[in-house]
Amino acid sequence: MKITDLPVPEQVKEVVLRSGIAELYPPQEEAIQARVLEDKNLVLATPTASGKTLIAELCSLKHILERNGKVIYLTPLRALANEKFDEFKKYTSIRKAGGKRVSVGISTGDFDSSDPWLERYDVIITTNEKADSLLRHRTKWMEDISLIVADEVHLLNEAKRGPTLEVVLARLMQINPEMQILALSATINNVEEIAAWLKASYVITEWRPVTLKEGVLLHEEIQYKDGDARKIEKKTRNTTINLVLNTVKTGGQALVFASTRKNSVTWAKKISEHTSEALSKPIKRTLTHEAEKILSAGERTRISESLAELVKCGTAFHHAGLAGAHRRLIEDLFRQGKIKVLTATPTLAFGVNLPARTVVVQDYRRWEPGYGYYPISVLEYKQMAGRAGRPKYDKIGEAILISKTADEADYLMDSYILARPERIWSRLAVEKIIRGHVLATIASDFAHTEKGIYDFFGKTFYAYQYEVKAIKSIIAKILKYLYDEEMLELFGNEIYATQFGKRVSELYIDPLSGVEIRDALRYKPAYLTDFSLLHLIAHTPDMGPVMRPYARELDEMAVLMEEHRDEFLTEVPDEWDDHIVYEEFLGEIKTAMVLKSWIEEISEETLLDRFRVQPGDLYRTIENAKWLLYATHELGRLLGNKEVLPLAAELIERVTKGIKKELLPIVKLEGVGRVRGRIIYNVGYKTIEEIKHAPLDDLTNLPLIGPRLAKKIKEQVGGFVKKETWEKLERGEEWKQKSLADY
Ligand SMILES: Nc1ncnc2c1ncn2[C@@H]1O[C@H](COP(=O)(O)OP(=O)(O)OP(=O)(O)O)[C@@H](O)[C@H]1O
Ligand SMILES: [Mg+2]
Repeated sequence: MKITDLPVPEQVKEVVLRSGIAELYPPQEEAIQARVLEDKNLVLATPTASGKTLIAELCSLKHILERNGKVIYLTPLRALANEKFDEFKKYTSIRKAGGKRVSVGISTGDFDSSDPWLERYDVIITTNEKADSLLRHRTKWMEDISLIVADEVHLLNEAKRGPTLEVVLARLMQINPEMQILALSATINNVEEIAAWLKASYVITEWRPVTLKEGVLLHEEIQYKDGDARKIEKKTRNTTINLVLNTVKTGGQALVFASTRKNSVTWAKKISEHTSEALSKPIKRTLTHEAEKILSAGERTRISESLAELVKCGTAFHHAGLAGAHRRLIEDLFRQGKIKVLTATPTLAFGVNLPARTVVVQDYRRWEPGYGYYPISVLEYKQMAGRAGRPKYDKIGEAILISKTADEADYLMDSYILARPERIWSRLAVEKIIRGHVLATIASDFAHTEKGIYDFFGKTFYAYQYEVKAIKSIIAKILKYLYDEEMLELFGNEIYATQFGKRVSELYIDPLSGVEIRDALRYKPAYLTDFSLLHLIAHTPDMGPVMRPYARELDEMAVLMEEHRDEFLTEVPDEWDDHIVYEEFLGEIKTAMVLKSWIEEISEETLLDRFRVQPGDLYRTIENAKWLLYATHELGRLLGNKEVLPLAAELIERVTKGIKKELLPIVKLEGVGRVRGRIIYNVGYKTIEEIKHAPLDDLTNLPLIGPRLAKKIKEQVGGFVKKETWEKLERGEEWKQKSLADY
């Protein structure tokens, strides 16, 4: 089917044609035949890169332009939300009937807000968690939604984030029974079941824009699923390296999945020793430049240094320990074809769009702290394999599992390549997962009776798969807990949230965190310090898994525990009572110490050294800390704890920036982060007023600042820069333009 023949407004066709798409892919045609453009619910379950987004776009514009509708687009990750936002922006040139342009908004942060400003957008792109929090605030515009697009619906199967998606879908169906649902998914086993739950029809195909060949590599030979075989030249003694080199030498790119972060780095290093020779001179020059960019983006650590070295050889690693800025740089370089080989942990398979000609599954096992190694699921393998083949660049994509013995080769062929992906199961019926959703159902007025609550949970995928009865006893137990903890109160047969319960629900924290914070706020320690609050938030379940102290750190943490004994807001466990609780407590102390060091301006490199905390983990901890400190502040306000408020407010700022108190005024300037802030402060410009009177030359000459940023700083403080002074500086000495990011 040609784009020109589509039953959508002409303006839409023009935009699609301009983006280089002239004809629909077969699965897209099937979606149209399933009447997705005629308001019919649909589950579109097709392989990676088969063009699901275009169907979502066409459907959205149909709603906006022909039905005066409003669209919400749900994604599981912030990175994906940003990707979709960029893709949707191309439609903002289109005018609606009244003359106004189509508008697209994005909202992924701040869980304690109803974001009324989003009302003016036609398409709102958001994460499942943000949508959940908006529903808790009973955001008005959510009732006007006429189309919901749920991307990556197979996420329902994920233990932690699946239930959120499930609840969001059930709630939206409850408040907008007329709304159309378009669910996008990878190919899974029980699409029919998900479709039936959503009252949708479904399209399921194996069609891909680039043919995929799956196989197992044993020694020098690949055995493919279709019976073909192929020999790989033996360049080195390592089969994986031989395979990767074969791809690179023939102009392709390879993506190598390793089981752990450490392995991904080791493999990148091993491979890089051989890739360099396959690079042309101009590419090498570009890569040297890109390596410098990596070093100047954010703080330097051993990790960024080793990454920069590898990038010069056309190789890189990608894992959750990398700082976000570095991860994005690497992704871009790989997409542009400048990096030839990328080694990654399995998390990459799920998320951003990074195709390569050859996908190598180096290890079909995965490492989870506390669990050890376990084999990945077929679904996960299929997601990795699906990344093989770049449309427009590769005729064929290859996904290859590496085996060491003939037995293992057989096992991999049977258990992964020839296997069907698992069924998707609802993960909702877990007390700690569902606790918050039960509270929110009442606190946000979705139900006020026990029957009403069961009715709501009766609409979830869980109830569809197992029936509500199975979940009733868990809900009853949670209701009792919430009542005992004064989050709920009873009026006859009706259940309402107390002020405390309502606030906990809006703050989007686990009710258990709410209870822990409340109890802590009622307790009067001998000394209330930064450490008191940092430990408190590390103690709540919302901080996520605690940082495990390494064997050599255990004693140090135990000493710290004694030193800070008078500051804790929670009970201090006894080592001889319960060893597990005690060790967890030491982990909380470690988390608190990492945050404390961060706000003492300890460098990322030192944090890595001292606590073995990688930048990616540090930043996730900081994000959680900001949110939980905010929650502490808000609950402190509700409970009238005047002592905690200023301390919490100050800590939020300090944790956000990673600074000592004295830098607070000057890091407010754009372009000035903790590193530059410290430099400016240490030469004596300690306040905005002092910076205002600083000679421009003085600022310019500071390390990491330079004329451009100096001018920007002056403009922000209201200082005046004479035209001649500026021109002289611009003409003056050569200076490297530093990134203006806060640093
Ligand atoms: N009909 C078409 N003709 C040519 N290219 C297309 C067509 N439809 C989509 N594409 C392109 O295919 C690429 C992949 O599409 P898309 O991102 O929608 O994949 P997807 O099905 O959502 O895969 P994933 O499972 O990875 O999310 C995009 O770059 C898109 O522009
Ligand atoms: Mg997609």
